[in-house]
Amino acid sequence: MKIAVIGTGYVGLVSGICYAELGHAVVCVDKDPYKIATLQSGGIPIYEPGLEELSRKGVAAGKLRYTHDLAEAVRGTDLVIIAVGTPPLPSGQADLSYIDAAAAEIADALTGYAIVAVKSTVPVGTNERVRDLIRARTDVPFDSVSLPEFLREGSAVRDTLEPDRVVIGADSPAAAERIAELHRPLTKQVMLTDIRSAEMLKYASNAFLATKISFINEIANICEKVGADVAEVAAGMGLDRRIGTAFLNAGIGYGGSCFPKDTRALIQIAGHVEYEFKLLRSVVEVNQDQRMRIVRKLEAIFGGELRGKTVAVWGLSFKPNTDDVRESPALEIIRHLVDSGVVVRAYDPIATPSFRGLFGDGGVVWCDGALEAARGADALCLLTEWEEFARTDLHGLQETMRQPILIDGRNVFKEEDLAGTAFVYYSIGRPS
Ligand code: UGA
Repeated sequence: MKIAVIGTGYVGLVSGICYAELGHAVVCVDKDPYKIATLQSGGIPIYEPGLEELSRKGVAAGKLRYTHDLAEAVRGTDLVIIAVGTPPLPSGQADLSYIDAAAAEIADALTGYAIVAVKSTVPVGTNERVRDLIRARTDVPFDSVSLPEFLREGSAVRDTLEPDRVVIGADSPAAAERIAELHRPLTKQVMLTDIRSAEMLKYASNAFLATKISFINEIANICEKVGADVAEVAAGMGLDRRIGTAFLNAGIGYGGSCFPKDTRALIQIAGHVEYEFKLLRSVVEVNQDQRMRIVRKLEAIFGGELRGKTVAVWGLSFKPNTDDVRESPALEIIRHLVDSGVVVRAYDPIATPSFRGLFGDGGVVWCDGALEAARGADALCLLTEWEEFARTDLHGLQETMRQPILIDGRNVFKEEDLAGTAFVYYSIGRPS
């Protein structure tokens, strides 16, 4: 198939590169000249394991190219995939202006029949809106398909090449079948449905996963008070196949560019049809409170006064294996610490530059290594479970710190790891 992918964010770039890996002729389009220049020169503008190699491979095989010329990419193509951003407006509602602009440009560029698929996460009705926008500008025939994306950052390539399922929402059986054929080499689970259900299903999936996280975080908060261990509780719950073990890791809450945005957007979508999504409102509220629990623990340890303390922070990205810091809990936690007069010494294996770009520099000492960050610290907060943190020599760490206080926001360490050290250890949902 000839495929044009509009937007080289996580979703567009990973999908485009993976379709090329499957042997299709792919053109990825972006308006951002920096991104296109980076991609054309063999780099990738994001950190995603395995992606750069696949991109180079696709380009070398003549299956993949990058351009900022949307019209040229769309001309004569079989499939146009819209994968532009839908960032939140101040109300929480998804901003569809990039989708609308892409639809208009696609309409003006279509020369013959094509399938126009939307991969961006969009509110119910958006595919119809795109169809109407295109129809209003051109007589060229086309079909609309909703093709929601379920990849995770950090494991995006694997998630795309070995997905649990592919969902295709379409009202043309022929178009649905062509898109199904495109994905059958990847999975047996290709689900065909109507456009609105496909759009809704994506939000419902993210909202459900966010609910699982807030649920286990509340159980963790109760565990701390009743002397139970949330890791044991989650493990036992997960043995019931109806519950499953995934997404039951208690911690400082979810972040990233998807769950916070999509939960708020779904609350808005419900509101527009005069339905109050009470459960999801609570999920969002619990997540907000969860971030601050680390700060409350620190305050309790230091008798309510944080001014003048030095606190080391390990991990800035919203999860491991990514440099993405959008809605990372670390942003709010470090902001609060700095505003309370704490000197923060921060380290992340990958995400420090992107974090500094969003956060600024005031009050934070940026460190090149985990032990360096811990030097002279009165306490250490672990906020992202990067693998290297789990391998820390805790005796060496203890020597480096002024006070051996460890607050593990991701439950990376176990009781036995700390045996023989002087660490005062706090985690989430486990007896301390
Ligand atoms: C999420 C979904 O998992 C993907 O299926 C979806 O395609 C994507 O959003 C999207 O809508 O584009 P992602 O945001 O990359 O993917 O990251 P996740 O691995 O889902 O983690 C999200 C957050 O939840 C992270 O901050 C993580 O630390 C947190 N989390 C996850 C927990 O606190 N506990 C868990 O048990 C699992």
